[in-house]
Parts: sequence; structure tokens; C-alpha cells
Amino acid sequence: MPEEILQTHKLLDRCEKALAERYTVHKLHEAADKEALIKSVAGKVRAIAGGNVDGALMDKLPKLEIIANFGVGYDSIDTKAAKQRNIRVTNTPNVLNDAVAELTLGLMIGLARRIPQGDQFVRQGKWPNVGFPLLTELNGKTVGILGLGRIGKEIATRCQAMRMRVVYHGRSRQHDEPYIFYDKLIDMARDSDWLVIIAPGGKGTEKIVSREVLEALGPEGFIVNVARGTLIDEAAMLELLQSKKLGGAALDVFEKEPQVPAGFFELDNVVLSPHQGSATHQTRNKMGDLVVANIVAHFAGEPLLSAVV
Ligand code: NAP
Ligand code: 8YV
Repeated sequence: MPEEILQTHKLLDRCEKALAERYTVHKLHEAADKEALIKSVAGKVRAIAGGNVDGALMDKLPKLEIIANFGVGYDSIDTKAAKQRNIRVTNTPNVLNDAVAELTLGLMIGLARRIPQGDQFVRQGKWPNVGFPLLTELNGKTVGILGLGRIGKEIATRCQAMRMRVVYHGRSRQHDEPYIFYDKLIDMARDSDWLVIIAPGGKGTEKIVSREVLEALGPEGFIVNVARGTLIDEAAMLELLQSKKLGGAALDVFEKEPQVPAGFFELDNVVLSPHQGSATHQTRNKMGDLVVANIVAHFAGEPLLSAVV
């Protein structure tokens, strides 16, 4: 009999096909009565594919052995609860580095040159009557990267190609990296024209980009968030943008996404993006392949490809 697994959200067709070929798959996101489905599979489900797994769900699935998270960020999984219950957790690192880094540079150029606003300016027929404003460039500016990790390093490389000066902040200096390290985030913000956030979400980084950090970045400074909405004091950021105490923001992630505070919609110094850093066919398929490969490895008693717990 094939092993039974629970899928917690829609996955790409290739991934869902690969899972269905190997396992009996129960789709929580398609269930009219989610609690009833969980009850009906409680004694059978040994793996979860997807995300959003807390201790309460783990307790409802006593046979659960592994959670294969779709995404490199696994802040939607209670990893402490998983560890306490000897449940393994995997994620999807590296396969999405380029996609996220490319979107980040796109958001930066889009904000610097107000590309979305320029598009609307032409479409709305304003061009014959008024000129589009002069803006700014990336070259020669300093970009501070909060989180010089797998994706952060790819962003740094691309920023260097744009002739930017790259500096970074993290919990520890990386001696193999050529960039200037800032021990304090607020000092880096003060010395940077751009602050790019690409550190993990979760309790350890909640609102580390505080009002004070945003004020240090200042009225000429730009913030870019391609990490998680939880890392920024979003209300303070909106207020500083509205009062011109922060130069601009390019945001792919939000505190309560997909809900986004309407105040952002009226601002012309903002570029908004629907959490699409890894949202390309090729990358999402590779992420799905990694979800499947980890579950296959687990049931075969082989080493996991990308374990976080
Ligand atoms: P990673 O390789 O683990 O890098 C994380 C970096 O953050 C490390 O350099 C780490 O350096 C730093 N960091 C961790 N905790 C920190 C803290 N408390 N304060 C300051 N720096 C801290 O992770 P990754 O693969 O680059 O992914 C990073 C994050 O990007 C993911 O967790 C996810 O939330 C987000 N992401 C978003 C999208 C999207 O669609 N927008 C797509 C993929 C990933 P130290 O250890 O030195 O602190
Ligand atoms: C995914 C991401 O959109 O990998 C991550 O951490 O944020 C994105 O690649 C997300 O995880 C899918 O739920």
C-alpha cells in the first residue's frame, strides 16, 4: 500500500503529479471540512507536503514523520514543536536564489526609475501634457544587505554589476566575503542609500527593521523587502513614506499578505509586488522536485537533501 501524505496547499502540476504517482495524497486545501479530513486521515498520514504546520496539526497526525516545506523560508512551520515530536522538516534552498535575486534587482531599478509609474503615465495619456520627473540611478550608491546568505550573496553580485558599493549586516561577520560588515543594522542603514532585506522571517527577526532603522535610512533612502513582511515595522514604514521621511520602498512581502494596507496604493514612491520572488515556472518546478525528493529519501531511509530539523 502506498504511503499516505497530506498536501496543505496547491503545488505545481509537476509536483502534484510526482506525489500522486508515488503516494495516496489527501489535499487539505481542497477539503470542504478540513477538520473532518484531518480526522479521517489521522492514523495514516506519515508526511506533509506544503507549509503552515503548527504543533496542533502535528498532534492531530500521530503518525507524522516528515514535513517537506515548499519554500526555503520555513517560518510557517513550528520547528520547535516538530523537534519535540521527532518530526523531520525540510525546505527548498538554493534552487530559487537566482529568481529572487533577479526580482530584487528588478524592484530596485523599478523603484529608482519609477518604471511602474512611468508605464501608468504613458497609458493614462499624460505624456503629451507634462514631462515625467527626473529620478535617480543605482550606480555609485551604497546598498546595505540585511542577510548575506544564499540569496543575499546573489543579490550582492548583481548589485556589484550595477556598480554599487555593497555592505552587509548579519549576526556574524563572514570572513570569506569581500564586503564591509556592519555589526549594527542601524549604522548600516545610516551609511546606505539602499537597504535590502533578505534575512529569514520568524520570532528572531520580528521588526528588526524598526522605525529608528528606517529613520536612519532617511528621506533619500530606499528600502527593499524580499524576505518576509514580519521583519519590518510596516506601520512605521508607511507613515515615514507618507511624511517623506523615507525616500521609497519596493516590497514583495507584507505583514498580513495577501492583504496590503491601502495607504501604500496612494504613494508614488513605492513599488508593490505579490510575493513573487521565486514565482517562475523553472524555479517553482525545482522547488517542487526538492519537496518530492526529500519525501522519497525519507521513506527510502536515505539522507534528506535539505533538512532543517
Ligand atoms: P540563508 O542562506 O539562511 O541566509 C539568511 C541570512 O540572514 C544569513 O546571511 C544570516 O546571517 C542572516 N540572518 C539570519 N538571522 C538573522 C538575524 N537575526 N539578524 C540579521 N541577519 C540574520 O537564507 P536564504 O536562502 O538566503 O533565504 C533568506 C530568506 O529569504 C528566506 O528565509 C525567506 O524568508 C526569504 N525568501 C523570500 C522569497 C520571496 O519570494 N520573496 C523567496 C525565497 C526566500 P547570520 O547567520 O550571520 O546572521
Ligand atoms: C515561496 C518563499 O513563495 O521560498 C520562500 O521562502 O518565500 C517563496 O519561494 C513561498 O515560500 C511559497 O509558500
